Amino acid sequence: MSPRVIAIDGPAGSGKSTTARAVAERLGLAHLDSGALYRAVTLGVLDAGTPESGDPIVGLARSLPVRLSLVGESFRPEVAGVDVSQAVREPRVNAKVSAIAALPAVRDWVNDELRAAADLHPRGVVADGRDIGTVVFPDAPVKVFLTASPQERAKRRSLQAGSGSAADDLLRVQSDLARRDAADSGRKVAPLVPAADAVVLDTTKMGFEEQVGVIVKLARNAFA
Ligand code: CDP
Repeated sequence: MSPRVIAIDGPAGSGKSTTARAVAERLGLAHLDSGALYRAVTLGVLDAGTPESGDPIVGLARSLPVRLSLVGESFRPEVAGVDVSQAVREPRVNAKVSAIAALPAVRDWVNDELRAAADLHPRGVVADGRDIGTVVFPDAPVKVFLTASPQERAKRRSLQAGSGSAADDLLRVQSDLARRDAADSGRKVAPLVPAADAVVLDTTKMGFEEQVGVIVKLARNAFA
């Protein structure tokens, strides 16, 4: 059982991380961003020039080390002791992360790290990713699958990244998200799918506070 886990999954740019952070704040839980760990491993590989197969990558991740470190109420990605929260958002990481995240050995290592991290916070975690409700914490009492239209997701991601809102910029972001969605949904191991018992929330026309409120309410009901 994972009594204190709220699982939020969904495609790229659906607002999982921002939503998970706000839900965690409202409930006094920690925010656990699984994508940040896949991104930090990818950054380690890019900087070390490691061949892209599973076992050497896990060896590299352990030795650098790549880790999530609990700072205040959220887990921050670190590589060799350095905070890489900003670096993991670089386009070179976006371009590579889905291929690295498709390797079973990498996923096993990340999943162990996520389960160990969740045990570190006394009140529990709001974890977000692609397979949190299906694989990492299948017993989580609250599971949400966030979606939004591709156009809306590209718009939100551009705003978040501070990139332009010109049509060209939006199309570029939209095609990056679409490429990662296809890779994440089509892979053999832990593909992006809603858990059978997840609440699917289409946020295309929802305000941010409204979507946070829906999840907080689901959690309060489940934990009551
Ligand atoms: O850009 P976005 O916030 O949507 O992605 P992310 O959550 O930072 O995750 C980056 C990439 O890591 C995804 O495109 C997936 O390839 C991979 N990932 C995964 O496979 N499983 C997870 N639980 C989380 C992320």
